[in-house]
Amino acid sequence: MKKILVTGGAGFIGSHLCKKLIEDGNDVLCIDNYFTGTKKNISDLFSNPYFEMVRHDICFPLYVEVDEIFNLACPASPIHYQHDPVQTTKTSVHGAINMLGLAKRIDVKILQASTSEVYGDLKNTLKMKNTGGTLIQLAHVAVMMKVRDVLRLFFLTIIVSMI
Ligand SMILES: NC(=O)c1ccc[n+]([C@@H]2O[C@H](COP(=O)([O-])OP(=O)(O)OC[C@H]3O[C@@H](n4cnc5c(N)ncnc54)[C@H](O)[C@@H]3O)[C@@H](O)[C@H]2O)c1
Repeated sequence: MKKILVTGGAGFIGSHLCKKLIEDGNDVLCIDNYFTGTKKNISDLFSNPYFEMVRHDICFPLYVEVDEIFNLACPASPIHYQHDPVQTTKTSVHGAINMLGLAKRIDVKILQASTSEVYGDLKNTLKMKNTGGTLIQLAHVAVMMKVRDVLRLFFLTIIVSMI
């Protein structure tokens, strides 16, 4: 049985992942600050002895012992991630660095979730996301592309140092 950390575990994908991992016989530690996720998404797991929930913001360091990490903590819907771009950037960058640092310290695999918008397909992004002004959309895509570059650098640097 593995002990698996799922950040953003109360969100849409995270809550399903927690359930699947438990079904597969793992012990799950779910971390979430409930920014977009809800207790309702994971309420059926609260009585499960193999499920543990901690309210925590991954922008702050976390010290736990686990065998694998799934970092899914980041608002995914445009309405939410554009609501507070600074917090979204902190979660994407500080949060990912904290989780990557944890993975390095305890020497375990980490999966980093992302969004197709990091590829900066402006035409399609603008076509698909009809939720605000063009300038805001462009600024948002630019932020996502910067976050991608920063994370790519950190993941490559730390992963290379772990090999
Ligand atoms: N939903 C999709 O179709 C889809 C597709 C591709 C990639 N993704 C990526 O998968 C990840 C999860 O997506 P989702 O649809 O489950 O989103 P979601 O908004 O439902 O879940 C994100 C979870 O992260 C939590 N969270 C946000 N900031 C946090 C922080 N600082 N500390 C701790 N918890 C925090 C939220 O409360 C929420 O529970 C995102 O990175 C998203 O970009 C989603």
